[in-house]
Amino acid sequence: MALLEARGLSKRFGGLDAVSELDFDVNEGEILGIIGPNGAGKSTIFNMICGTFKPTSGTLVFRDKDITGYSSHRVARSGIARVFQGNVLFPSSTVLDNVVMGAHLHTRLSWFSFLFGGPSARRRDKALRTRAMEILELVGLSEDADTLASDLPHGNQRHLCLAVALAVEPKLLLLDEPVTGMNTEEVSEMLDLVRMLREKTGLTLVVIEHNMKAVMGLCDRIVVVSHGRKIAEGTSQMIANDPAVIEAYLGVDDDAA
Ligand SMILES: Nc1ncnc2c1ncn2[C@@H]1O[C@H](COP(=O)(O)OP(=O)(O)OP(=O)(O)O)[C@@H](O)[C@H]1O
Ligand SMILES: [Mg+2]
Repeated sequence: MALLEARGLSKRFGGLDAVSELDFDVNEGEILGIIGPNGAGKSTIFNMICGTFKPTSGTLVFRDKDITGYSSHRVARSGIARVFQGNVLFPSSTVLDNVVMGAHLHTRLSWFSFLFGGPSARRRDKALRTRAMEILELVGLSEDADTLASDLPHGNQRHLCLAVALAVEPKLLLLDEPVTGMNTEEVSEMLDLVRMLREKTGLTLVVIEHNMKAVMGLCDRIVVVSHGRKIAEGTSQMIANDPAVIEAYLGVDDDAA
């Protein structure tokens, strides 16, 4: 059964159809790749799933519930988390505090009570810290718990972003270009980490990438978008040999073909 179903999903910005009539399923426990050249509409798809953009038309059903047009907080509470393309949230806080604060932000607990709260807030904070340490263990950062986030090497900062997203215990995790700007070693570490997470937690993941090669070996299935439309869907093997996919990538990005 599909965990997430997108049907006829579309987003129009003025005269531009950024995403058009897109149908796809995300099955429970799988790693689905959404790939496509720059500007294909990939981040717009995530923005619609996460409630940042309201779809112009179409529906999103998550765990049998219509979540189309939900606010981002409501989407997060439903069990969908997203790891952004950018850097860590709080660079001048420790690694552990980033995970704890991430959980607070997502759960909409007040910052104020986190910083200045009474005994019950402190108890809740202690439980969150224990959980946060477990998550850091999972992503291989437990020894860096007290390090300032900004002092982590780039690759580990991205691992921390993952840990922050995991703090809300999502059912579905969306990764937007998780290996952008990484060197070869960091790329393979990140891909190993994502694989391990799925194995250990049974998490379902959707990974956006414009670099096809990076995710070919990671994803169970891949949806290819170009100019906002789905042009192919299948296993890495099927996608790699699809003439429409080869054409969409040719001359667009030498690295990605
Ligand atoms: N908020 C917005 N307002 C207007 N146009 C937008 C907005 N967001 C995205 N677009 C346009 O929609 C199209 C799809 O953009 P999107 O960011 O979804 O592409 P992408 O596939 O994620 O690209 P990249 O690989 O570069 O991250 C682009 O033409 C972009 O300029
Ligand atoms: Mg993008």
